[in-house]
Amino acid sequence: MAKKKKRKKKRPQKRKQKRKKKRARPKVRRRRVRRRKAKRRKAKARKIGRGKGKARKAKPRRAKRRKAKKPKPRKKPEPPLRIDSFGFDRGRPLAGKYEIVSRLGGGWEGEVYKIRERSTGIERAAKFFFPQRNPNNRVLVWYAKKLHKLRTCPIVIQYQTQETITFRRRPITFLVSEYVEGELLSQFLDRQPGRRLSTFQALHLLYSLAAGIGSIHHLREYHGDLHTDNIIVQRYGLGFNLKLVDMFRWGTPKQENIQDDVCNLIRIFYDAVGGARHYAKLPPEAKDICCGLKRSLILKKFRTAGHLQRYLETIQWE
Ligand SMILES: Nc1ncnc2c1ncn2[C@@H]1O[C@H](COP(=O)(O)OP(=O)(O)O)[C@@H](O)[C@H]1O
Ligand SMILES: [Mg+2]
Repeated sequence: MAKKKKRKKKRPQKRKQKRKKKRARPKVRRRRVRRRKAKRRKAKARKIGRGKGKARKAKPRRAKRRKAKKPKPRKKPEPPLRIDSFGFDRGRPLAGKYEIVSRLGGGWEGEVYKIRERSTGIERAAKFFFPQRNPNNRVLVWYAKKLHKLRTCPIVIQYQTQETITFRRRPITFLVSEYVEGELLSQFLDRQPGRRLSTFQALHLLYSLAAGIGSIHHLREYHGDLHTDNIIVQRYGLGFNLKLVDMFRWGTPKQENIQDDVCNLIRIFYDAVGGARHYAKLPPEAKDICCGLKRSLILKKFRTAGHLQRYLETIQWE
């Protein structure tokens, strides 16, 4: 028993001695530390990609990552497309639905074509806006909404739809409305004897215009560009059947816009009876309407087209 106990006691002593011995061999220890450090360095080098072997493969990976991080060069925005004429030929297909029949007119804002719906043969008018006059399609949308708001006014053309085509690799949207058969008021007046109407005829013309535009003013809206190239004479006899095209956007409707419409109406009447050349010889009833073309006098008499319409309904002839 005594022997056994002695052995048990000796063992921990031996370990202590061994540990002491280990600590006592600094050379070995330093070697181990050096090896460990070298190992760590190699591992680090491999990670960074500086070492031999695998490190070489790591290089392109880093390069790739760098490439991906580089910001992509932005595409240069295409310069705004400026068009002054579309010049579509007869038969040109449009949006797979319509085709060009003929050119009806054109101006500052765009070009208007007579088009035909291929499946039905129904003819329509299509207004193609020049892109510089219709940024972000705003003018077309405004025009479409206005035509829709005024759809109950018989003098206003009916809006149908809008379509888009590609022209010079850019999208161009066009507005489709009813096609009005008839003659421009400017052409109608030009072919009258002496290029003018009698006072009685001109009063009928003015009455039809005032009644039609009165319905627009009644809805607190305005036309904004009333002149003889924007009025189509559909039929005439004792009275006139008229349609208005091409409204102009002056912003949200104001009293001033309505007043401009009234003054333009009077100006159309003044031109229809012969203008300055014949003014002096006009009967007093006509002069009372023209008010010498003085804006303040006209607006004092006629606040809206509706007032002018009622004035004409009760006019007294001397
Ligand atoms: N709905 C239509 N039906 C028949 N002809 C039209 C129609 N719309 C326009 N036009 C014709 O096209 C011409 C030009 O149209 P308009 O809308 O006045 O454009 P612009 O901005 O070029 O003045 C008009 O003067 C008229 O002769
Ligand atoms: Mg016009």
